[in-house]
Amino acid sequence: MACHTIEGNGGDYQKLVADPTLAPPLLTPEGSKVQPDWLYAFLRGPITIRPWLNVRMPTFGLGDAPLNDVIHYFEAIPNQIAPFRTHEVIRASSETAPGKELFELLRCQQCHVLGAVPKDQPAANLAPDLRMAVDRLQPDWIVEWMKAPLKIQPGTRMPQFWPNYPKSDFPQLGADGDRQIRAIRDYLLTFRGGPSPRRPSETVIAAASN
Ligand code: HEC
Repeated sequence: MACHTIEGNGGDYQKLVADPTLAPPLLTPEGSKVQPDWLYAFLRGPITIRPWLNVRMPTFGLGDAPLNDVIHYFEAIPNQIAPFRTHEVIRASSETAPGKELFELLRCQQCHVLGAVPKDQPAANLAPDLRMAVDRLQPDWIVEWMKAPLKIQPGTRMPQFWPNYPKSDFPQLGADGDRQIRAIRDYLLTFRGGPSPRRPSETVIAAASN
């Protein structure tokens, strides 16, 4: 709670930094944002998601029961318990081609890294590696995020590309903001090879040896 704000509580760290983008993320949306398996692995062995922050997420060494309690709490806030569902990615032949075109047109990579951080990239202009999205993020959340990032994470540097959603300033896909956002989302879900938290190692149960 000292670092994060959740349901309007905590977040003292925010008072120490003038710029809200330098504070750890708001956790109220976490349950609708990330995949529970990813969150479990992240809490067991955190990795760097936001290289521009000066604070690091600690490893708490909690066991499965308290970790599951924390994950259930996150999921209860947006009422997302048991979000097991299939996400049908539209294949490259259809909408991922316009998705790629929009991804390049909107210069998502100006901030988002796909792999090594370029040497000339200022840390203040960095955004999470989008190769993580397929393992980390809930597909529906990505759509909500692109529609209105400031609504989800007040003060974020992520631009609002569709201020008049569902109208769009871009001609692709009939200038339909909804189809454009879904096409970009489906395209970025084809990225692979991003960093992922260590998966918990197997518990070895010793066999009786007599
Ligand atoms: C001006 C910089 C900037 C640009 C350009 C930008 N983003 Fe972002 N984006 C950010 C930042 C900063 C965050 C992280 C916010 C946070 O701390 O949670 C982010 C977060 C995201 C996330 C969530 C990632 C995660 O793992 O938490 C997605 C998905 C995303 N952006 C997609 C896009 C797409 C698609 C585009 C292009 C259409 C784009 N962004 C363009 C700055 C940018």
